[in-house]
Amino acid sequence: MSEVERPNNRSYRLRGDRATPAQEAAYERLWPIFGIAPGGVIDPRVIFPESKQRIMEIGSGMGEATAEIAAHFPETGFLVVEVHKPGIGALMNLCTKAGTTNLRIIEDDVHVIMRDSVPDLSLDAIHLYFPDPWPKNGHHKRRMVQKEFLELIHPKIKDSGYIHIATDWFPYAQWIQRIFAASDLFTGGVIERPQWRPVSKFEGQGIRKGHIVTDMKYFKN
Ligand SMILES: C[S@@+](CC[C@H](N)C(=O)[O-])C[C@H]1O[C@@H](n2cnc3c(N)ncnc32)[C@H](O)[C@@H]1O
Repeated sequence: MSEVERPNNRSYRLRGDRATPAQEAAYERLWPIFGIAPGGVIDPRVIFPESKQRIMEIGSGMGEATAEIAAHFPETGFLVVEVHKPGIGALMNLCTKAGTTNLRIIEDDVHVIMRDSVPDLSLDAIHLYFPDPWPKNGHHKRRMVQKEFLELIHPKIKDSGYIHIATDWFPYAQWIQRIFAASDLFTGGVIERPQWRPVSKFEGQGIRKGHIVTDMKYFKN
């Protein structure tokens, strides 16, 4: 079984996902509008035929930043991959309130979706904002950014496309820079925080603890 399948090496925490009946009802009502069932081919060019760009966001959390970015770039199609059901519900609520039409959601592990469903050269970019930092030494293998992750995403991104990553965990920022520096698949490094990237709940918590936020952008070679 390949590393990418991550059977015992999840990059996400298993959390209690108990929703209230009202949250469940909202989820059931909104999923047919925003949701894409996993399995088969999931082609962003077919999902967003009119969009100028197609971007995958990995791990939208509670969705506040994701919804704001989608509203800021109406001509871009956003394909969100998230495993946390309550977060997906919250994102769908925000998008419904905002009248968002340029965003769809897949509820699954991004490793599986990338491996099995996303065609090569179909994404202009990937957004990976505040991936779980897994700070303990014994947990570093759970971090999303690994050599195998770069190999997994590289073929899916169009030539001259990129991945934009942000983290508030400085040792993870250094880890990310080391992983990319050791690979000839991408070229890039630290960038200034783009003004359009809103502060998410998760990022805000980090900033209040005094964490340094690092943005990085790596272009496909
Ligand atoms: C620390 S949170 C950050 C969320 C959001 N980007 C933010 O800035 O608030 C990381 C998110 O990534 C999601 N995640 C982790 N591993 C994932 C995977 N393999 N596939 C899809 N989502 C994943 C988690 O469920 C979680 O919501």
